[in-house]
Amino acid sequence: MPAYLFTAFISAFLITACASLCIEPATRTVFEFPFRSWVENIAVRAKGDLLVTLIDHPELHLINPFKPNNTTIVSSFPNVLGLLGIAEYDIDQFAVVAGNWSYVTDETTAHSYSIWRVDMRRFEAIDGEVLQPAVVEKVVDIPEAIFLNGMTTLSSIEKTILVSDSGIGAVWRVDIANRGYQVVIEDKTMEPGPPYNLGINGLHLRDHYLYYTNSALELFCRMPVKPDGTSAGNAEVLVTNHLGDDFTFDRSGNAYVTQDPGNALYKVTFEGNVSTILGGPDDPLIEGDTAAQFGRTVADSHILYITTNGGLVNPVDGPAVGGKVVAFNTRCA
Ligand SMILES: *[C@@H]1O[C@H](CO)[C@@H](O)[C@H](O)[C@H]1NC(C)=O
Ligand SMILES: *[C@@H]1O[C@H](CO)[C@@H](O)[C@H](O)[C@H]1NC(C)=O
Ligand SMILES: *[C@@H]1O[C@H](CO)[C@@H](O)[C@H](O)[C@H]1NC(C)=O
Ligand SMILES: *[C@@H]1O[C@H](CO)[C@@H](O)[C@H](O)[C@H]1NC(C)=O
Repeated sequence: MPAYLFTAFISAFLITACASLCIEPATRTVFEFPFRSWVENIAVRAKGDLLVTLIDHPELHLINPFKPNNTTIVSSFPNVLGLLGIAEYDIDQFAVVAGNWSYVTDETTAHSYSIWRVDMRRFEAIDGEVLQPAVVEKVVDIPEAIFLNGMTTLSSIEKTILVSDSGIGAVWRVDIANRGYQVVIEDKTMEPGPPYNLGINGLHLRDHYLYYTNSALELFCRMPVKPDGTSAGNAEVLVTNHLGDDFTFDRSGNAYVTQDPGNALYKVTFEGNVSTILGGPDDPLIEGDTAAQFGRTVADSHILYITTNGGLVNPVDGPAVGGKVVAFNTRCA
């Protein structure tokens, strides 16, 4: 074999081998917040930074997963206890749910929710110091909402998002450009029930289907939807008897579902097989896992970033720990 062919062969072999390589440890803590910090949701910028919301502090934090020695507060939000769902509705522009859900009483304050936008396009920070702030503004109050929670982008062209209402058991569409909002879906599979009184929670669109968890009913479901976010057919229950908070998909369409009080991450394959792949009821590794997103750079597209509340709802070993961001190498799954 000529040398250049041999080199090409070896390179192709190495690339293939590396793509399936698990370099231990499978998980590492990217950042741990102080005790009693509930990291609730996560979005990833195209350039690699993680944006995480706290539910018990009205703050949006930025973490560089490659140099995570501290976080940078992108913005604080007035007159609310915390932030919930976050989604990139247009390039480097994010929408966020703000409102009053208290982890001390486990209760939502109806009529306290609003949607904000955070434009990161000109944001600059070095070593935690903000040089050029994000543009942050309230989009709209949604006084009719009971408990706005998860969020997903419906159309980045039309700048529309879908937001779950865990208290009503419904999905709101919010039109960011003209500040309009309306309920587009209500369904039995979205309704709240005991013990958490928390129905539909995480929601994400994939291939014209809206996928969602229902925390009280312990379901993972999907429903076909039209481009305007309204239903195009019946709900289909994919998984039963599994606690679910937020979730994400890999490129092949496998779903990774966090469980908060279940302290585990479960995977639903494209074919519908369900298995726990990380943590467990008695494992503190990702206790109180609330949401997950994959990295978006070449270096970390196989890394699943998992946010946690440190076990505030169901601690594993005595008291809870600080909320975390944990990086999980899915090649080790
Ligand atoms: C992060 O790095 C900066 C600059 O090197 C240093 O001043 C700071 O103390 C570090 N923070 C932590 C939490 O280690
Ligand atoms: C980490 O950053 C926060 C603001 O995001 C700041 O209040 C805190 O002092 C920093 N801690 C260290 C050790 O640098
Ligand atoms: C949220 O709760 C705080 C503390 O109780 C209160 O001051 C604030 O007015 C509430 N915000 C809304 C929007 O209801
Ligand atoms: C799905 O799970 C079943 C039962 O555990 C197993 O027999 C089957 O091989 C799995 N299918 C796939 C595609 O992994």
